[in-house]
Parts: sequence; structure tokens; C-alpha cells
Amino acid sequence: MQIKTFEEYQQAYDLSVKQPESFWAQIAENFNWNKKWDKILNWNFTDPNINWFVNAKLNITENCIDRHLTDKANNVAFYFEENEDGKPTQTITYQDLHDEVCKLANVLKEFGVKKGDRVCIYLPMIPQAVFALLACARIGAIHSVVFGGFSAQSIQDRINDSCCKVVLTSDGAYRGSKQIPMKSTVDEALQNCTSVEKVLVYKRTNEKINLVQGRDFDWETETKKQSKFCTPEIMDSEDPLFILYTSGSTGKPKGVVHTCGGYMVFTCYSFLNVFQYQPGQIYWCTADVGWITGHSYITYGPLLAGATSVLFEGLPNYPDAGRFWKITDKLKVNIFYTAPTAIRSLEAAGLDFVKPYDLSSLKVLGSVGEPINEEAWQWYHKHIGKEKCPIVDTWWQTETGGILISPLANITKTKPSYATLPLPGVQPLLVDDKGKEITGNGVEGNLCIKFPWPSIIRTTYGDHERCRQTYFATYPGLYFTGDGCKRDEDGYYRITGRVDDVINVSGHRIGTAEVESAINQCHDVVESAVVGYPHDIKGQGIYAYCIVPKSEKTHDELRKEILSIVSKIIGPIAKPDKIQIVNGLPKTRSGKIMRRILRKVAEGETTNLGDTSTLLDPAVVQEIVNGKL
Ligand code: WT7
Repeated sequence: MQIKTFEEYQQAYDLSVKQPESFWAQIAENFNWNKKWDKILNWNFTDPNINWFVNAKLNITENCIDRHLTDKANNVAFYFEENEDGKPTQTITYQDLHDEVCKLANVLKEFGVKKGDRVCIYLPMIPQAVFALLACARIGAIHSVVFGGFSAQSIQDRINDSCCKVVLTSDGAYRGSKQIPMKSTVDEALQNCTSVEKVLVYKRTNEKINLVQGRDFDWETETKKQSKFCTPEIMDSEDPLFILYTSGSTGKPKGVVHTCGGYMVFTCYSFLNVFQYQPGQIYWCTADVGWITGHSYITYGPLLAGATSVLFEGLPNYPDAGRFWKITDKLKVNIFYTAPTAIRSLEAAGLDFVKPYDLSSLKVLGSVGEPINEEAWQWYHKHIGKEKCPIVDTWWQTETGGILISPLANITKTKPSYATLPLPGVQPLLVDDKGKEITGNGVEGNLCIKFPWPSIIRTTYGDHERCRQTYFATYPGLYFTGDGCKRDEDGYYRITGRVDDVINVSGHRIGTAEVESAINQCHDVVESAVVGYPHDIKGQGIYAYCIVPKSEKTHDELRKEILSIVSKIIGPIAKPDKIQIVNGLPKTRSGKIMRRILRKVAEGETTNLGDTSTLLDPAVVQEIVNGKL
């Protein structure tokens, strides 16, 4: 499955375009299937309807765990590094993983969870989070992970959208110097969730929690009772594996659905090729299991490849900004995969936090989640990779399931801030706003993909029309990514950022519409408009313009209220960095807010605001400029 040279990459790429079916059939031969496919692919991007490995049967956990037990039972699957520095590293072998996953799967079965049922997972970055995903997959339940930074309201919305039957959570979480309640947040969410029958609670912080008789159960007690064997449920290739909610331009987050067969093949293939993982190496992805990166490149991809990974509970800057490098030194990490926002914040902390550590084990560095600016790229390359490690700048999305555009480590020549070339099987193209393809090199446009890859989104849970509208209707016949992109003279791709109303804050995807609707819940606010602006560390910051007509409260009081309401409705990750109280917003005569102008003001532009002649009241703009924060 592993490409070794650039020529091999070109051959693989060629074949994947000319004969996609035979290309993917050959890759798929590397997995255990209970039954092989009747056909590799059936698809159309109109409905859309995409079926990979048609009628094939499998269980992804058998491929992640069981098939490694013959020769790798005692190999380490995870080294677990706790939030608190100085604690001994815990080791989880493939055999341990098997036993823990099966026991937990048996608990779920006892709770009445069956194939196709949805299970919500709200856990810290501890091994139990990985066990939880795999336990669901073992019995064919569909996991829906909610990131630990989301509020009770967000958990509630997600649980209700997919009618989860069970919640897997913990009492609390350690995050740097803070202890964060988890169970009490779930309790609050469950006040309005009628579908949830059982809650399993892992004791992490041992804080006091409330256990509801008959509904809530203790993780340790329940798993201890169970057998270490659980026969994997045989799944169809196109049975859903999981739902993961993500934000878009409009409305509430959508439940992106991925299915078993294609997701398995592509996450493993992309993991092995992008990072060029070699047996015995130690790989570390610093993401949270709550995001797609944690699904594809902490859990499924590496385990499918039989890799050894580091799982880290803590934060990059706790107890200090040397933590990543301390762990890298301690565990002799070979492949390190993180987000630009983390790199920028560690760069800002200074080299004194890097110098004490021996980073000579590092062979490959990765970046994910947002565009990496050239300065951060150079710092990462020079001070972490010591100019000997390629940086794989991996572009992909929750909807793509796996990495689509990225260098292959040591194979593709890298270029700072470029995601470079598409993986085999991925056919990108750029279109103008009318949907016309932009050919040639040295061009820029909207990034689309014209042919399905195995881990492409299949639907948005419970609302297929929304999936069609969002991704397949803007440019008929194409999957639209929502990203802007350049293709340079060498044919290399550089993602320039979202072209829709989605902002990327510290690698977290946030819909401006969602933040606005949360802010509008604030009693004094009659209307708001939220835009992104360049932020040195976070990549983008959140700038909110809020109309407050008359209020006894000071602007500072209003700001506090707005922050707390956003925290409560979405979660602390969506709190605006800047809140400007205004009397009006720039609107066209038809009442549409001209965000373009607001973006410019937020960026610090005061004069060059573009065409304002269609505005209903141009005076509003000057007032906003004068009040800029
Ligand atoms: C959006 C997807 C990819 C998994 C984590 C985020 C941006 C992602 C890159 C990159 C430039 C990137 C895009 C994309 N993005 N990776 N290497 N270079 N931009 O997944 O939350 O679904 O967000 O993140 O704008 O559309 P996500």
C-alpha cells in the first residue's frame, strides 16, 4: 500500500484517475473482509449517492485490532501521557486494546444498544475515548462524538438530532491547570433529551457527581463484569460508522455521516502514505478525539496500520510551552502531527522551551486544520525539524474523512504554506464563481473535487437534502469544499481559506450564523453580525458587531453578557475575541448585511472599503469605522 518514490506516486495517481476501480480494488485487498465487494463503486454527485465496495461485509475493529493480534499482540498501540507532567507513561498494547474494547462493547450490548443505534461520546482525551469509538464500531452502533469544549446546549442539540440511546462520559476532565466538569454538563443536556436511556460514567477526576438511579452507571464497575470477547458485528460496507457534527454557513451544525468500508480503506491508505509510517516508529497526533483528526488519525488510520501512537491528555503550554518537546524527547517520537495554531503559540513562547530537549528522533512533521503561514512553517522546519524533517501540510475536512491534498513525506518536494499535490484517487479542480473550470497553472479559484474518493461524506444525518444543497448543488456535478485555493506554476495547491461564512479559529470550525444566533439570545441585542479577522496565534479571531439600541448597561457589561451567552449556547471555543456595540449594520436596500465591509473593518481597513454605493445608509459605515476596536 505504501508508495516509495515520486515516480511511484505519479504512476499510482495516473492509475487512480484512469482506472479508479482497479486502483482501489488493489488497495482494498490489504484488509480483512467477511465478504468481498460485488463492484468497487457506484456513484452520482446529483442525488448524491455514493457506494464504495458495494455489498462487501466487514467490521472495522477487526481490522484495527484483531488482525494484528497474531503478530502484534504485545506491540504498543498507545502510550498514554497524562495532563499532569511527571506521571508515568501508561502503555496500552494491542491485546489490552482488544480486551478493553470488547468489555465496553459488551456493556453497550447489555444496555440494549444494537446495530444502527446512536451513541453519544463526551469524554476527555483519555484512552477510554478511543475504546468508546471502537466499542461502538465493534457492535455496529454509530458513534457521535461531541468535543469536550461544547456546552450542554450543544450536546443536547446533537443528541436530539440523531436520537442517541446512550451517552459515554466522565465525571470531569483535566485541561492544563483547570478541572472541567463533564457529567454535570451532560446532566444539564439530558433534561431535554428523551432518547437517552443509559449513561456510563468514567471516573477521571473523582469529583462529586450526581448519579441517576437506573440511568447512570459506573464505567469501572460495569466493564469489570464483562467478558474480554465480543464477536464483531458484520457490517455492510455502506453501513454508517459514525456521525460527526460540523459547522457550515447556515443553521445548526450538520451531522456528517461516514460509512465503514470506504472510510477504513482511505484512512489507512492516507495514513501510511502521507506520513510514510514504518513499523516500529512512534507517531503522535496532538488533536482531540472530538474532531475528525482524532477519529481518522488518532484512532482509525494508525490502528488499521498497526502503528504505535502517543495519546496526550493535556495542552501544549501546560505546565509550560515545552510540554510537546518534553514528551517527544521522552518517548522518542518519530512522526509529529499538530495544528498551526499550536505552532504559532509555541513559537511566541520562545526557544528556551525547545532547547532543553533532544528532538533528534523526529523524522516527519505534520500540520493540519488551517492554512499554515510561512513564518510558522519556517519556525517548525528549523527549530523543531532541525531542517531535516519534511513538513506534510495536510488539507482535508470533516466531510472528506481523510487527507486529500498533502505532500507524501520524503517523496513530494515541499513548499512552505502549500498542501502541494492530491493523493492518488483525489481529483481536485478550481472553478470560478459561475462554476466554470479554471484550467492551467498560476491560477486561483474555488476548490472542488470531481470524482468520489472512498471516505467522502455520504449524507448529513436525517437530512439528505441538506447534504446535497451544501456540497453538491453550488457547482452541479462537483463536490464543493467551501475553500478558496491557488494552483501555482508547478501545479501545487495552496489553500487560502474559506470562501463561505465559516471561520477557522485555532483550527476549530465555527459558523458565523451560529454565533450570531447565540448572541441574539442576549436580551439587549437586536441584531448582530459576526466575521473573522486575522489573528496572530489563532489564525482567525471572531469579531462581533452587535446592535444594542438603548440599554442601561455599559459596553463592558454588555460584552460580558454576550460572552457568557455564547459560552452557554455553543461553548467557550466560540466566544468572540472582539465585540463592538453599534447603532446599525451596513445593509443593502434589500436588507442583506454587507459582510465584505465588516470583514474589511475588522481587518483594520479604514478607507478602502470597496463599493458602498448600494448601501441603504452609507453613514453607518463611518460610524462603525470610528468605533472600531
Ligand atoms: C477546514 C476543515 C482537516 C481536519 C481538521 C479540520 C481548513 C484544514 C487545512 C490545511 C489550509 C486547512 C479548510 C477546511 N483546513 N486543513 N492544511 N491548509 N486549510 O477539519 O473542522 O472540517 O475544517 O479547515 O478551510 O475547509 P474541519
